[in-house]
Amino acid sequence: MKVLTVCLGNICRSPAAQGILQHVADQQGVALELDSAGTAAYHIGKQPDKRSIKALNEVGLDITHQRARQVAQDDFDQFDWILAMDSENLANLKRLKPANCRAKVVMFGRYRDGVNFGEVDDPYYGGDSGFASMREQLFEIAEDFVANLTK
Ligand code: 4NP
Repeated sequence: MKVLTVCLGNICRSPAAQGILQHVADQQGVALELDSAGTAAYHIGKQPDKRSIKALNEVGLDITHQRARQVAQDDFDQFDWILAMDSENLANLKRLKPANCRAKVVMFGRYRDGVNFGEVDDPYYGGDSGFASMREQLFEIAEDFVANLTK
């Protein structure tokens, strides 16, 4: 199963989501191939934001190897799931999405009918506490997502 996490800049939320999904999948014994991307091109080639690196480091996860990239047209046929962090990311992805593609393109917090973990709000302009709550929200969604992949 191939999963792409997507936010705006690919430096705060989606790299954290990638690291957390990898950890949860490993813990649950589920084979996931993961990557992340941004809808915008502002930060291509950069490491995740220091605050995301720190928030994940606090729980023993290392995301420093990741580098930002922009969503590409090909992603829609390379991945099974494309997970948007918020409704703006989702709207941008739906504009790019080809009519008949492999990927299910959904909001991460609402990836299946009847669940709603909310949007993962952009923490970029806030402080460290926003990054810690982002991490906790991402863990909650990731655990539910991975558990439901195997059902
Ligand atoms: P992300 O956060 O989408 O979670 O990576 C942002 C990063 C950078 C910017 C906005 C959001 N920016 O405007 O540069």
